[in-house]
Amino acid sequence: MDNVVEKARGQIGHIDVDSFWLPKQASTSAHHVDLGWNVALWVTYVFLAIVVVAMVYFVWKYRHRKDNVIGKPTGHSTALEIVWSVIPLAVLMGCFIVGFRGYLEISVAPKDAYEIQVTAKKWSWTFGYPNGKISPGELHVPAGRPVRMVMSSVDVIHSFFVPEYRIKQDVIPGMYTSVWFEAREPGEQVLFCAEFCGTDHSNMLASIIVHSPEDFQEWLEAGDDRPPAERGEASFVKFGCTACHTVDGKPAAGPTLQGVFGNEVPLRGGEKVIADENYIRESILVPAAKVVEGFPPIMPSYQGQMSDDQINDLIAYIKTL
Ligand code: CUA
Repeated sequence: MDNVVEKARGQIGHIDVDSFWLPKQASTSAHHVDLGWNVALWVTYVFLAIVVVAMVYFVWKYRHRKDNVIGKPTGHSTALEIVWSVIPLAVLMGCFIVGFRGYLEISVAPKDAYEIQVTAKKWSWTFGYPNGKISPGELHVPAGRPVRMVMSSVDVIHSFFVPEYRIKQDVIPGMYTSVWFEAREPGEQVLFCAEFCGTDHSNMLASIIVHSPEDFQEWLEAGDDRPPAERGEASFVKFGCTACHTVDGKPAAGPTLQGVFGNEVPLRGGEKVIADENYIRESILVPAAKVVEGFPPIMPSYQGQMSDDQINDLIAYIKTL
């Protein structure tokens, strides 16, 4: 399941391509974007050809010759002015109509769209489902059904970008933005962050797993029967904790979690605290409450984004370090 993201991390822009210019059209509205692109491309080709041919011809026709005569200056030509105003106007209106039709389709989600809550933060994506299931780092959707993302950021501006669906929408702190798509068939795509958001911006990826409707329902209802510490380890990566915390004692933006559990932690202001279950839970939900000596108070809160079960799994994992 992590394959797509692993691949994308290894080779930037691992995207399925099935035409010369553009990635494959994996959503039902991708063709609108490609039509607009192709119209603009071909209009450009045609006018480029006309201009280059005329240029070469005039260079030849008006080359320097011994018997050159300077002609009379050309006067005003109303017919010519009308021609060069009306043709570009028609071309532009054509582009506008193509673009506007696609824009309407892409910006208005169908009424029966399935809603998924998206939370962006430095540097991870978390997806919340109507039944309360929380999926960090992996967006699961059914094929053949419109899905609408209701998105918000907890810190800076991010951008939800899936090249194969031809959608890109800013995700903004303090407000909701939304975007919708309908995946054509089961498969995997990569979600990118397309707004520079800090040092790990280029690693802010998630995999999109498109299931058949039956498989999606099964995934939605399934529990995870791995041992808690193993689930916690997976969550640790998917929630993006690795951006700031190592588990092998190496220094990073945040304190390492190796050997933390059960030991004394020095806090800012000289106090000390024993790292027990309550301390870890509090550090996840209200990170500013107890800040470790020597580190800036920059950790974001995961309140409302991690379920209690996921917090318990993380605690179980941290105990093993
Ligand atoms: Cu988030 Cu770039």
